Amino acid sequence: MKRVLVTGVSRGIGRAVAESLLAENMAVIGTSRDPQSINIRHENFKPAYMDLDEIVGNPDSLKSLSLEVGQPEALILNAGQGRFGSLEEFSAGQINSQIQKNLIAQIILVREFIQTFKNRGKGDIIFIGSESALVGGKMGSIYSAAKFGLRGFSQALRQECASSNIRVGLINPGMVASSFFDELSFQPGAATDNSILPEQVADIVLFMLASKPNVVWDEVNLSPLKKVIVKTPR
Ligand SMILES: NC(=O)c1ccc[n+]([C@@H]2O[C@H](COP(=O)([O-])OP(=O)(O)OC[C@H]3O[C@@H](n4cnc5c(N)ncnc54)[C@H](OP(=O)(O)O)[C@@H]3O)[C@@H](O)[C@H]2O)c1
Repeated sequence: MKRVLVTGVSRGIGRAVAESLLAENMAVIGTSRDPQSINIRHENFKPAYMDLDEIVGNPDSLKSLSLEVGQPEALILNAGQGRFGSLEEFSAGQINSQIQKNLIAQIILVREFIQTFKNRGKGDIIFIGSESALVGGKMGSIYSAAKFGLRGFSQALRQECASSNIRVGLINPGMVASSFFDELSFQPGAATDNSILPEQVADIVLFMLASKPNVVWDEVNLSPLKKVIVKTPR
């Protein structure tokens, strides 16, 4: 049974990915800052603690996750957070925190498992990037900086890992209907073609994992048919 670590499974894309993998008879270790709150009931699911904010200052905090996960065959790096606004609205600490969560912690997470993958000579690493990794947009300077960085990391790691038969891929969704927007001052329009469903991102993860081993899906970009942004009072 394929063993997969998925970060950020308490809701949104991560939860949909975890449920899709479980439905395909894979074993999933899924993380949250509050693992007891994860509402996934399945015999092949194991909740685990992981806080992106702790990893940079204390990489040793990953040791217990590493022990729980054992030797995964795939990593789905999904957990993340977006904060948007004009540059001057962010304090230095907030900028640091966003880049740490969405870029540096992701790199350190992969570093924790990469030697195991290379020793085994196979594996899949899939990052959930963003359309903000492809083009910068108004109010998105910090988020884009992190996601562009993640894309560069993913591309370089793909080259590094190919000789070890490890496939590294990146999924760049446009607006996905999830709690991502709960703390933001905008959200996708309400029409069904204004947002992607988390399950549709999960379909791409499954597709990438199921591809023949000679092929790597470098990057998959998907967008809602009609991009509509609605302002929400905060
Ligand atoms: N929604 C979109 O429109 C959209 C579009 C493109 C890309 N993305 C990307 O997709 C990924 C998932 O987003 P989503 O839409 O599913 O958002 P979401 O519904 O807000 O879910 C975010 C997940 O990330 C985890 N997380 C957040 N901050 C964390 C932290 N500091 N440490 C550990 N885990 C943390 C949360 O877990 P806990 O709170 O339980 O710890 C939660 O499971 C993110 O990387 C996001 O940048 C989203």
